[in-house]
Amino acid sequence: MVIDVISLAVKLLRLGEVVVLPTETVYGLAASIKSGPALRKVFQIKGRPLLDPLIVHVLDYGWVPKWAHVDGLEERVKTLVDAFWPGPLTIVLQKKLAIPAIVTAGLDSVAIRCPAHEIFRKVLKAIKIPLAAPSANPFGCLSPTTAQHVKDSLGERVPLIVDGGQCNIGIESTILDMRASVPRILRPGAISASDIAQVIDAAVLDYSPVISSSAVPGQLKQHYSPNTRLVLVDAEKQLALLMNDPSREERAAFVYLKRPAECPYENDVFWLSDDGNNRVAARSLFSILQTLDRAGYDVIYCQKASPQGVGIAVNDRLTRAAAKFSS
Ligand code: TXA
Ligand code: MG
Repeated sequence: MVIDVISLAVKLLRLGEVVVLPTETVYGLAASIKSGPALRKVFQIKGRPLLDPLIVHVLDYGWVPKWAHVDGLEERVKTLVDAFWPGPLTIVLQKKLAIPAIVTAGLDSVAIRCPAHEIFRKVLKAIKIPLAAPSANPFGCLSPTTAQHVKDSLGERVPLIVDGGQCNIGIESTILDMRASVPRILRPGAISASDIAQVIDAAVLDYSPVISSSAVPGQLKQHYSPNTRLVLVDAEKQLALLMNDPSREERAAFVYLKRPAECPYENDVFWLSDDGNNRVAARSLFSILQTLDRAGYDVIYCQKASPQGVGIAVNDRLTRAAAKFSS
């Protein structure tokens, strides 16, 4: 009997296994929130500390009140999810007792998101249970945006990787804490503070690395790191200077924000987008870093995005990825 991949994923999840599923942001390592063994496997397989809470994925807003308190916030939450779900927005609410403590690392809040990728949605629709899913990479490493990235890093450790193509957004969801009267961005993503403020017609506290690192366990200064040394530069000109430095002995890759007009060392030159578009840069960021990390370079020099909209999220990931090399 031929069994389709969605049914197989659902079967494995029901048996207390983990499954890698595509989302529109990055690939996720999914477990049923009703399976203690599967949830423990998520932490083991990633090598992730139990102090780092997981995001709970739901099919639609209708699932939320069962797992989180929305009292007093319903109108605001509904307005938000009508605008952005399914999509790359995670909301943090007061958790209900039904959510196991391992999912939220013992916090009294829960992060909930409604993914847009059709494969993830089909699995949710069939299993009818929320799925906890962190990014499907070893803890602290680059996030995966293709099934091959997951195979290369977690490979044998997971029973099923469902290939849903390249992730369209390419960086993890925006996380918004909805519990305070002024909602606050805890992790920047493709949906910005101003996008949210416009929809709810109220102020939103933008992302601040200092506040966020104390408020969000797991939001580490150093994260998403390649093995190859990564050095960030602000402007295109600096890449040209490094490239033309006669004293440079290292084998270096140069990553521009947009395709450079002319360039003598074209074999080692890459770009995040053709025309400097931040959304395209976000989509290609992890993909390019994953490829270059396996290409035998001594160092990757990468230009930062322009700090608007999703460019803020791109620079957040780049800064954390470079942090382990700057101390
Ligand atoms: O786009 C995404 O959000 C992806 C895809 C797979 O859905 N998931 C993802 O999960 O990025 P992960 O585990 O790599 O990052 C989740 C982060 C945690 O590190 C933590 O900082 C934050 O979400 N988080 C989870 N629960 C939280 C909570 N109750 N309060 C505050 N932050 C929380
Ligand atoms: Mg992650």
